[in-house]
Amino acid sequence: MNTAYRDKYSASIANPIAFWTEEAKKIDWFEFPNHILSQDEDDLHRWYQGGKLNTSYLALDRHVLNGNGDRIALIYDSPVTKTKQKFTYSELLRQVELFAGVLHQFGVSKGDTIVIYMPMVPEAVVAMLACARIGAIHSVVFGGFAAHELAIRINDARPKLILMASGGKEIDKIIPYKTIVDKALDEAYFKPEGCIVLQREFIPCSIKPNFDHDWNELMNKAVPQTFTVLDAWDPLYILYTSGTTGAPKGIVRDNGGHAVALNSSMEYVYGANPGSTFWAASDIGWVVGHSYIVYAPLIRGCTTILFEGKPIKTPDAGTFWRIIEEYKVNTFFTAPTAIRAIKKEDADGVLLKSKDLSHLQNMFLAGERTDIATYDWISDLLQKPVIDHWWQTESGYPMLCNMAGIDLFSIKPGSAGKPNFGFDIRILMDDHAYAPANKEGAVVIKTPLPPGCLPGLWHDNERFKSSYLSEFPGYYFSGDGGYMDEDGYIYITGRIDDVINVAGHRLSTSEMEEIIAGHYAVAECAVVGCHDDMKGQLPVGFVVLKPNHTNEEDKISVELVAKVRDTIGGIAAFKTVHFVERLPKTRSGKILRKIIRCIADKVPYQTPSTIEDITVLDEIQWTLHHE
Ligand code: COA
Ligand code: AMP
Repeated sequence: MNTAYRDKYSASIANPIAFWTEEAKKIDWFEFPNHILSQDEDDLHRWYQGGKLNTSYLALDRHVLNGNGDRIALIYDSPVTKTKQKFTYSELLRQVELFAGVLHQFGVSKGDTIVIYMPMVPEAVVAMLACARIGAIHSVVFGGFAAHELAIRINDARPKLILMASGGKEIDKIIPYKTIVDKALDEAYFKPEGCIVLQREFIPCSIKPNFDHDWNELMNKAVPQTFTVLDAWDPLYILYTSGTTGAPKGIVRDNGGHAVALNSSMEYVYGANPGSTFWAASDIGWVVGHSYIVYAPLIRGCTTILFEGKPIKTPDAGTFWRIIEEYKVNTFFTAPTAIRAIKKEDADGVLLKSKDLSHLQNMFLAGERTDIATYDWISDLLQKPVIDHWWQTESGYPMLCNMAGIDLFSIKPGSAGKPNFGFDIRILMDDHAYAPANKEGAVVIKTPLPPGCLPGLWHDNERFKSSYLSEFPGYYFSGDGGYMDEDGYIYITGRIDDVINVAGHRLSTSEMEEIIAGHYAVAECAVVGCHDDMKGQLPVGFVVLKPNHTNEEDKISVELVAKVRDTIGGIAAFKTVHFVERLPKTRSGKILRKIIRCIADKVPYQTPSTIEDITVLDEIQWTLHHE
């Protein structure tokens, strides 16, 4: 029996300092940390105090200095613009040095924040690494978010500059990024000093004199800039993610813990060796893109792929397999929803079978639970390990997984595996007692969290404590529910807060409720995440209208759908509104959203004794299943 996982995991929990000291030795420091684990002024745990490093140096310069400058660092494959481009480590370093020079010329330096609102183009990766090079803190905003969401993030991050492209392409639709940024800037009360705009030939945009600057013109006269030596605790980036209120949480990532943890995950979790090709088919706007398109593969010396397309329709459901064959991908990472979308179009896997996937070693899935039907379909076709693994923006890398690099223990479909090194994961009941095997509870992690996980929220550590650390003292609360079986495998059953997962995108139902409640005709509302065969969940609105508007349902439904789309963006995928006379509530007035979801999904539920009026449930049932 291979005990490598068990032994190393036990060691990481029994003596985290020894474990993370050894992992820290695997990256290059300018000065090795003098404290492996300590606490900051807010009593929050911090790793690697005193360590000096630079993440951009680790991702680029180090490989060039080690003689690997000719290795391909980045492959850009864009079916939507019919472009393919390869960058060696030396070429990517050159671009990053030049763009760091551009930022420097604008007076950007260590500690300044920069918002990046760009599609999947190489310049976006260059921008992130250039910020990292000079210690500027980047905050990438996903291109599917509308102007209002961008404005919220601009106000919170207070960027010196905004880096953007003139537009993006979503299958055959052109997204006017410049128009969205201009609208966000009108709305935001914080005003950046300017914008740097990458013109894309399919959507050239106008440039505001003395505020907007042309990317390529600046690059053509840029002076290369070397790296700044940074402290391990210096923030590398802020990434906003949905919380349980309308205000997104600014997840902070530091430089030191992040570099060590990502490097470690590439070795143990993914088994990805330097020189191998690693493809995460995500977007740089999400944490998967930050960690596994940009930082981890480059720190590890792999070739990474930047894919500007979709699993289907760009041009067909064979795109993923074409890329895996063409670039001899060794490790592939995507979301279950993407596999379901492919399955819908190519149920017999004809397109998959037509490609040579012999270089592929493992496929990893995350973003939502991998349902067993999807797991069976793809693993039967691929005949390679298909590994579900669980993580969050907050962790930055997998917390539950199967260790392809050290001990690929047997996979149990439906489970996201066992805890990654350093994660002491427990299932707690409402009374904070440990849940017995197979009993569902809250998924929590004993603190201190390992390196790489968020050290706090951007300028709001009180919210960090109240959102994650207060509910179960001594533990970080993930917001997910789940259970552990008798063999130690953990099954994530879904969020137990107001966050939903739509096509692998994390969204807040409370935010949608705030938007809907702001409509003049709405008396009250609830938004719940209902099951969807392809996207996993879809938000569905239950709306009670004010008395004098009850005969305007069709018109109001259209207005509400448009309002959510205009405010959050297309990715909210809010398309369904049910008008009801009442919402089910407890006697204290709390809306019973979970029960609404159970009725919609036709799953059994327990009616709480505190319900105000049980007959409302019949009304909801009738509305949903007889409309
Ligand atoms: N920029 C602008 N708009 C975007 C966008 C972006 N980067 N991403 C999505 N949108 C828009 C889409 O164009 C679409 O608009 P529409 O309503 O006008 O059609 C809307 O947001 C919803 O997009 P999406 O969620 O992508 O749904 P879809 O039906 O177009 O595609 C899938 C379905 C499953 C193919 C797609 O959701 C997908 O590839 N999901 C995987 C996501 C993923 O990899 N997540 C990884 C996180 S780990
Ligand atoms: P995000 O922060 O956008 O990465 O979303 C994190 C959330 O996605 C988690 O809290 C889970 O609810 C869900 N999630 C991610 N990966 C998985 C997985 N493998 N299984 C179940 N849920 C997952």
